[in-house]
Amino acid sequence: MTSVLVTGANKGIGFEFARQYALDGARVYAGCRDPARAEALNALAAAKENLTVHKLDVTIERDIAALADVLNGASLDILVNNAGIGGDLHIYEPATSETFEDVLRTNTIAPVRMALALRTNLEKGDGKIVNISSGRGSHARHRGDGIAYCASKAALNSAMYGLSVLWKDTKLIIVMLAPGVVITDMNPTGRLTPEFSVGAMRDLISRLTTSDNGRYMSYEGKDILW
Ligand SMILES: NC(=O)c1ccc[n+]([C@@H]2O[C@H](COP(=O)([O-])OP(=O)(O)OC[C@H]3O[C@@H](n4cnc5c(N)ncnc54)[C@H](OP(=O)(O)O)[C@@H]3O)[C@@H](O)[C@H]2O)c1
Repeated sequence: MTSVLVTGANKGIGFEFARQYALDGARVYAGCRDPARAEALNALAAAKENLTVHKLDVTIERDIAALADVLNGASLDILVNNAGIGGDLHIYEPATSETFEDVLRTNTIAPVRMALALRTNLEKGDGKIVNISSGRGSHARHRGDGIAYCASKAALNSAMYGLSVLWKDTKLIIVMLAPGVVITDMNPTGRLTPEFSVGAMRDLISRLTTSDNGRYMSYEGKDILW
């Protein structure tokens, strides 16, 4: 049985990953900041015994450690580092230091902490570390807005590329995926449904091999300029 851990699984793209993998019969560990308020996710867990809900604020080290304890050395095939915040996305004004720090802590540092905490589990499984990046992490596409958000995704790409080099002699496969412009609370004017974007990304994830290690690409599998 494929095992998957998804962060930020209570809504948007993360919820859709959890839903699709659970319907497919995978063992899904669904992390969210506030399980008591995760109605849709709890309803899914009630219907699918292969999905469990876990308190996971990705910026809190003890939450990450507690979830690693729940796994208790079990193998993990796929880690989906999805949780993220928009911060100053779509804002044409440099972010305050507080916003900048929040965005970096959530979008950049937390996925690295997750990968470090679960490395052993991943090495026992398929070892796929999937980071939900953004086309906005590409310098080539910068519009001058979202100074913190774009920097956080570019830094995520760099940090994860770095891990892909550091761990090149292991079985781990690390990729950074841009999900497209998806209709969620973060992007209400998006074009793609979460169902479509996540379906495409799952297809891509299922076909990943070690030759993809370190790639930054779109949900369609096309390389994106850094
Ligand atoms: N939608 C798009 O067009 C688009 C495009 C490119 C990239 N992305 C990326 O896709 C990912 C998902 O975004 P989305 O569009 O689905 O947005 P969303 O609907 O706002 O969902 C964001 C998710 O991240 C969670 N989250 C935020 N901070 C967290 C933390 N500290 N710990 C744990 N969970 C946290 C949120 O939980 P709460 O409900 O508790 O806040 C929520 O579940 C993000 O990384 C985003 O940058 C989205």
